[in-house]
Amino acid sequence: MPEFIPLISEQEIKKQIKNVGQHISHDYKTKDLVLVGVLKGSFIFLSDLTRQISIDHEIDLVGASSYEGTSSTGRIIFTKQPDLELENRDVLLVEDIVDTGNTLLKIVEFINLLNPGSVKICSLIDKHERREVEIDVDYSCFSLEKGFIVGYGLDYNEKYRNLPAIYDLKL
Ligand code: IMP
Ligand code: MG
Repeated sequence: MPEFIPLISEQEIKKQIKNVGQHISHDYKTKDLVLVGVLKGSFIFLSDLTRQISIDHEIDLVGASSYEGTSSTGRIIFTKQPDLELENRDVLLVEDIVDTGNTLLKIVEFINLLNPGSVKICSLIDKHERREVEIDVDYSCFSLEKGFIVGYGLDYNEKYRNLPAIYDLKL
């Protein structure tokens, strides 16, 4: 049976998202902000983050998937393109977790082809140990050295996204 070790509580998540939302609201005051959530893992984070951003902004989604089990397959499959016109706009990519960084690097490359005014990254979790590419996470709620976590949108083989807090998964 898998074991779930509590790592980050609902209250801590809420507090950090409020904090990051305030930073984004301040930094993008004079910009044309579009939050672009990366499916599927960011859907819960995105829905809470947007409600903590006080300036006008728009929301879109991009679908990319690279994972099977607990190790990256190294392949990235685009499953959904953004619907909004992003040219000259300020795109903030919203991701659940940055691990090797390969997924986001590919997404940034792809978004750049649409000629946005700027592209930055906001990730719920910035996980360091396995980083393979140089990528700047501009906003993150939590930093993690290592481990495999689930809950609050994060899955293991598509399960456990519904858990309201974040847990370390021991298989
Ligand atoms: P990367 O390309 O290695 O940075 O992988 C990023 C993607 O892998 C994330 O969007 C997640 O879907 C998945 N991932 C990486 N680490 C974890 C984890 O600890 N728990 C759940 N999913 C993870
Ligand atoms: Mg994901």
